[in-house]
Amino acid sequence: MLLSAASFHSRLAQLGIAAVCLVVVGWFLLPASFDFSKHLSTSQLGSPLSTTPKTTVSPKQNHPADQLILRANEDFRTLVNKETRNLHDAAKAYQARRGRQPPPGFDKWFTFAANHSALIVEDFFDRIYDDLNPFWGIPAKQIREQANDFVHRISVRNGNATGRTDIPREDRPWIGLWEDMVQSVAEYLPDLDLAINVMDESRIVTPWEKINEYMIKESESRKVVPVDELKMEFGSLKELDEHPPEHFDPGWDTIGAYWPMAVVGCAPNSPAREAEIETDYTNPPPLSSGYPPRSHEGYVSNWTFASSPCDHPNLQGLHGTFVEPISISNTKTLFPLFGGSKLPMNNEILLPPAMYWTDDPFYSGGDSHGDPWEQKKDQLIWRGSASGGRNKAENWARFQRHRFVSMINATSIKQLETRPDYRAPNFVLPENDTYDLAARVPGAGQTGLSDWVATWSDAAAVHLLCFPDPDPPRCPYNDAYFSVAKAMPMSEQYAYKYLPDIDGNSFSGRYRGFLGSTSLPIKATIYKEWHDDRLVPWKHFVPMDNTFIDVYGIMEYFVGNKELGLEGHDDVARNIALDGKTWAEKVLRKEDMSVYVLRLLLEYARLCDDDREKMGWAESGVG
Ligand SMILES: *[C@@H]1O[C@H](CO)[C@@H](O)[C@H](O)[C@H]1NC(C)=O
Ligand SMILES: *[C@@H]1O[C@H](CO)[C@@H](O)[C@H](O)[C@H]1NC(C)=O
Ligand SMILES: *[C@@H]1O[C@H](CO)[C@@H](O)[C@H](O)[C@H]1NC(C)=O
Ligand SMILES: *[C@@H]1O[C@H](CO)[C@@H](O)[C@H](O)[C@H]1NC(C)=O
Ligand SMILES: *[C@@H]1O[C@H](CO)[C@@H](O)[C@H](O)[C@H]1NC(C)=O
Repeated sequence: MLLSAASFHSRLAQLGIAAVCLVVVGWFLLPASFDFSKHLSTSQLGSPLSTTPKTTVSPKQNHPADQLILRANEDFRTLVNKETRNLHDAAKAYQARRGRQPPPGFDKWFTFAANHSALIVEDFFDRIYDDLNPFWGIPAKQIREQANDFVHRISVRNGNATGRTDIPREDRPWIGLWEDMVQSVAEYLPDLDLAINVMDESRIVTPWEKINEYMIKESESRKVVPVDELKMEFGSLKELDEHPPEHFDPGWDTIGAYWPMAVVGCAPNSPAREAEIETDYTNPPPLSSGYPPRSHEGYVSNWTFASSPCDHPNLQGLHGTFVEPISISNTKTLFPLFGGSKLPMNNEILLPPAMYWTDDPFYSGGDSHGDPWEQKKDQLIWRGSASGGRNKAENWARFQRHRFVSMINATSIKQLETRPDYRAPNFVLPENDTYDLAARVPGAGQTGLSDWVATWSDAAAVHLLCFPDPDPPRCPYNDAYFSVAKAMPMSEQYAYKYLPDIDGNSFSGRYRGFLGSTSLPIKATIYKEWHDDRLVPWKHFVPMDNTFIDVYGIMEYFVGNKELGLEGHDDVARNIALDGKTWAEKVLRKEDMSVYVLRLLLEYARLCDDDREKMGWAESGVG
């Protein structure tokens, strides 16, 4: 068991006020030099509270990750304590957080959730409001008509969901899967139409200033309607079905770079809005060997910040999404397009990804969730294609999956360690005085970083997806830096303790499988998903910076450095892995996706109704 936050404090209380001060100070100090005693041993972090700690608590004993984990446990407890267990409390929590009455059908939603033993915390649904609120600034009729006209569409009529697309379903199973997802709740829905994004990439970036105008309209419309004026039924789509709307063209931009299209969605004073546009990707990648900004001594402390391109302009040259996506088809026009993932600056409405609804073992990992922790290899495994965008001779060194594989390739690190003038084309190592890595301390027994990495790392691409000829799995332009390995089913990857998860062309569809496994996901991403508000970083998964500069620190914290006698935190890793699995089985089930979709679509249906400002649900007789 992890030390709980409350018990951590009581242990400090035992040790007196001086210790508290030291710990608090320690939070802000950067480590100046390596000190083995700074690393809490596994037994210390896991020690029962009743026993007096063998060593005194001083700042150096607190690894920054310990502190982040303690805080995550506290955040998680706060979140879970908000659970609502009956309709009345759920409606109250809704109104307190959203400032209006819940949509019509809220009682059915609650019963559906309760029937499926779903844990209900209002915060779990924040994403829905981030996605939908701007649409209060757009007339309901326009939303209905645009959705109705869109070529890829799921319609609900008389409690029956039907998909439509002009792409053969064998090529793109997404519409069929989403149709099935919507069907799981269709009997509780009014008639509605959903425009569906069938591409991997997200596609709407409305300028921040425009969204801000819509959000002002949303806040002006927000009110609690007197119950006797409340309309508790949805209207019908009869008129729309009898008189199909005029064709709506969102005006797709397909030419140009994506970064300039994307940054208009960032706040005016954000670093990305102010950054220069990069066009030449033959330069060395914009990487720093110091700690990532606003990290806690190098480790991700604010996951929203760490995964936000608006706050990290260097990502325009470090992520395939911006360097060169496979396809761009982007519009500035806000219209109700549903999709499975998006960047923070995109304006799509998120559904749980279709990949998470399929039983295809390629995404889900199948029925196997891995053996008990103790039977796993004390190693990290990564297998995947070098996707992320169109990598070519002049830009491959900027792609995230390439970078990750190189950074934990012992041979490529050894070249840096042994050849003073050598520069790796696609990564840098952390500075010597950061992360206190045992392997990098002069005189610490010279095994070096590369030899240590070799003890735990097994990462390789299964296909390098070269351009212009994608047929052979390898390319002339980066052949010296990569070899390819055989693909490995997820179930076999679960024989390893550590599972990094890195974005491909968009989010990584394996993530839900990883969370539900007995192994530990280590996640870096710039993408948003439906489940973000129900997962707590450092509690259910380990967050990683998009530069991956923290990967060595993370791995040393968990696996230690056996050659140098440094113990890791194996039991902490196991706890996060198993806490994540238990939590996934509670809040990421297909039933939970249905509960999310039902809430989302009731809310969306209200937005599509001309009477939306006076629509809502209220307990009879309650004002
Ligand atoms: C909830 O379960 C009851 C009993 O099985 C069933 O009659 C009812 O239709 C269900 N309601 C919803 C909204 O799922
Ligand atoms: C639902 O739609 C499908 C496909 O159009 C159709 O075959 C089926 O009969 C419909 N079911 C109901 C209950 O309307
Ligand atoms: C985390 O970062 C986001 C994005 O920059 C910011 O809005 C939020 O206030 C930060 N949270 C904390 C607790 O600092
Ligand atoms: C970092 O440490 C290594 C190993 O001790 C040493 O060879 C190298 O010169 C150091 N680099 C810097 C910039 O201090
Ligand atoms: C690791 O790096 C070396 C040298 O850069 C390269 O030859 C090898 O193929 C790489 N291994 C993998 C798995 O990519």
